[in-house]
Formats: sequence, C-alpha cells, structure tokens
Amino acid sequence: MIRYSVALGLLAVCVFFASDKDFRWISALLLRLPESHTLLLTPEELSRYTGTPDSPGLYLAVLGQVFDVSRGRRHYSPGGSYHVFAGKDGSRAFVTGDFTETGLVDDLSGLSPLEVLVINDWLSFYKKEYPFVGKLIGRFYTNNGEPTEALKQAETSIYEGQKLKAKTQLDNLRFPPCNSEWSAASGGRVWCTTNSGGIQRNWAGVPRKLYSPGSRGFHCVCVQVVNDISSQNNRGELDNPNLQVYDNCPPLEESCILKG
Ligand code: HEM
Repeated sequence: MIRYSVALGLLAVCVFFASDKDFRWISALLLRLPESHTLLLTPEELSRYTGTPDSPGLYLAVLGQVFDVSRGRRHYSPGGSYHVFAGKDGSRAFVTGDFTETGLVDDLSGLSPLEVLVINDWLSFYKKEYPFVGKLIGRFYTNNGEPTEALKQAETSIYEGQKLKAKTQLDNLRFPPCNSEWSAASGGRVWCTTNSGGIQRNWAGVPRKLYSPGSRGFHCVCVQVVNDISSQNNRGELDNPNLQVYDNCPPLEESCILKG
C-alpha cells in the first residue's frame, strides 16, 4: 500500500513538472498499455495527431505501426507536401501516390506483392528515421495489439514480393535492360552499354526483345555475345527462344533504330 502511494506520489510529481509533450506520453501511457507494453491507439485517437496548433502531436501510421514524425514537421505539418499522411494510416497511398481521401486508406486489396513490398520499404524507412509510438487498432492489429488476418496476408505478400524482387535482380544480371530514347523527329532507339539498366558489367551485349513467359509484350534486354560467334555449339543466349532480334537491326549491332 505504501509502495503504491509512493508510486502515485511520484506520478503526481511527474505530471506536475511535465511539459506538454511529456504529458501527452504520460496520458497516453495511462490510456492503454497492453501486456506487451506497446501503446495501442484507436483511429480516432490517431486522427487528433495532425500537427495543427491544437493537436497533441504529429503522428502517422504505416501497416498499423504508429510513428512520431514531429522531427519531419516540414513534410507532415499543415502546409507540408505530405501533411495528408498525418493522423492516419494511409498505407495504400505510399505506393499508389493517390493522395485523395479515397486513396489515403489502409486497405491493400488488389495490390501486387511488389506494391505491398514498396509499402513495407516505407515502414522500414519510418522505423529507421522516426520514433515508434505504438500500434493502431483496426485493420492490422486487434484491440489487444495482436496481428490480424489482414496483417498476416500483407506479410505473405511482402515475402512473395521479396522473392519476386530477388528473381528480377538475378534476371537483370543475366539480361540487363537496354538504354532507350525516343524523339518525335528521329523515332526510337535502343542500345547496350556496359552499365545499361544500372547493371555494371564488363560486356555491353546486343539488344534483343525479351518475351518473358507469363507477361504480356516484351522489353529490351542486352544479351552477351560469346567470343566465338561462329561456333554452332556455344552461342550463349543468342538462340534463346524467348529472345527476338529487332526488325531491320543486324544481330550483332549494339544499337538499333526502332521504326513505326
Ligand atoms: C508515390 C508517390 C510518393 C510518395 C508516397 C512520397 C512520399 C514522401 C514522403 C513521405 C516524404 C517525406 C519523407 C521524410 O519523412 O523524410 C517524401 C519526401 C520527398 N519527396 Fe516524395 N513521395 C512521392 C513522390 C514524389 C515525387 C514524384 C517527387 C519528385 C518529383 C518527390 C519528391 C520528394 C522530395 C524532394 C522529398 C524530400 C523533401 C525534403 O527533404 O525536403 N516525391 N516523399
């Protein structure tokens, strides 16, 4: 009992001397601290943290995790380019760029794994750059702060996205993208250099249309030319059935003009 009174007394002293900001933390702590010691906020509580003069602070949420973005107030406070994210979980808009009311939502339905991965990259950014505040009760966390089915689905998507990204990176090493340019006067051109597609290598290669199984159309990739091109046995990737030579472009030409 005495210990309790001392604790209460200490809390009273803290509250008395606390600044406005500290007070917010103390009141928030008294509001809701589950067993995991993570603060839980409702969407209504979060919606007050928009950085307006009468608001208790400047928070935003990504995938249900709340961050104190006061340090980035030039972006997030009223008048800032990204104020639209303040006081809410607008996860979807982090990848769609749709900053309208209907776009600034935490519903991820219809997004591809690579898109959900982009949102997760933003989450990593906020974890690194801003203090974590707690979890948002709703789509991604239950009233007890437990992950919801929607969060588990998002995590599966992120995992799929990571696998796809790794595969794309490997494919890009094998078939680096071409450089390309287009002008109304001279039409289009694709060409290969030792760093086209952002892939540094010691060969430039020759442009080919790559028709990837399962995707529509083609994109231009650079294909390495093997030393002995006349060899019937080792022509590298040049005879790969998914690759096609550009019309009117000699097979070993490093630059192709696109007509039509
Ligand atoms: C999906 C579209 C986009 C989203 C979700 C987005 C989101 C953001 C966010 C949240 C920040 C603040 C990061 C922080 O806390 O430090 C930021 C900063 C910035 N964004 Fe964007 N952005 C988008 C598109 C763009 C585009 C198209 C441009 C340029 C044409 C751009 C230029 C910038 C710049 C220059 C900063 C840094 C400003 C500074 O440090 O003063 N953003 N962006």
